Amino acid sequence: MHKLILAASVAALALIGPASAQAPIVIKFSHVVAPNTPKGLASEKFKELAEKYTGGKVKVEVYPNSQLYKDKEELEALQLGAVQMLAPSNAKFGPIGVKEFEVFDLPYILSDLKTLRKVTDGPLGAKLLKLLDAKGMTGLAYWDNGFKVMSANKKLITPADYKGLKFRIQSSKVIDAQMRALGVIPQVMAFSEVYQALQTGVVDGQENSWSNIYTQKMHEVQKHITVTNHGYIGYVVVVNKKFWDGIPADIKPQLDKAMQEATAYGNGQSQKENDDALAEIKKSGKSEIITLTPEQDAAMRKAMEPVYKDVAGRVGQTLIDEFLKETRGATN
Ligand code: LMR
Repeated sequence: MHKLILAASVAALALIGPASAQAPIVIKFSHVVAPNTPKGLASEKFKELAEKYTGGKVKVEVYPNSQLYKDKEELEALQLGAVQMLAPSNAKFGPIGVKEFEVFDLPYILSDLKTLRKVTDGPLGAKLLKLLDAKGMTGLAYWDNGFKVMSANKKLITPADYKGLKFRIQSSKVIDAQMRALGVIPQVMAFSEVYQALQTGVVDGQENSWSNIYTQKMHEVQKHITVTNHGYIGYVVVVNKKFWDGIPADIKPQLDKAMQEATAYGNGQSQKENDDALAEIKKSGKSEIITLTPEQDAAMRKAMEPVYKDVAGRVGQTLIDEFLKETRGATN
């Protein structure tokens, strides 16, 4: 009899007491790209470090490849608290009313990753992150992908080659203006749908980083890729603000440390990820890689120059000037 009572109380304790006291805080991290990309690797690093530094008090579940949500849905899901952490590209904040991040989409605004750091690691980067508070989000970090190139089933060399083509774009109005400056008909589409749209001819072309093109196999359905490096694609790591503010004070510093280190790790190897992806695409022989001469590059730059004026009303001339001051040391 005694034994039975003892067994029953041990079972009850196991069920309620210690188990509920130790239930970890779960962070669902949703993203749209493959695991073997700069963002995929950085999110896995964050998971590893966050779980290690908190001694298992925090569990991070990473959901890659739009498994949980597609582009716009994931930001709405974050606002509702259905997921806790995301890293959408700068180009994707417009639809939730934060259009300022589209400044990163301006053609040729960044010459290299070192210049990018002047913005993301400085006061302007911090000011931009602050804009997210009003949307129920906290911006934690900037993660790199890399520079974008153009692809199609047609050789794209001069601006005239783009005229009349349909291109998939992200939801940024700056990218919309950039494509229109080239005479392209832009079509906003979720990332997970791009491969099929290219394969079936729903769109003729697209722009993205080497890593995204390779991991989505876009090069298998695009005959030509032109090394334009005309724009940058990077991410803002965001969390649901209410959730983040509610994390106990003894756990938060460990998560901050994990995020800082995951950011350094991811940003330290984004270039290599893109270089490797380019090498694999070349090796596959499926897509011709076109390099522009300095004159052809200059013609592309000239064709896209009017975009700065076109979007000044949307992104803000002051913000564009601030950005240029950081990156070029002068205003436009
Ligand atoms: C895209 O939609 O092309 C990118 O934003 C995908 C990504 O997250 O890199």
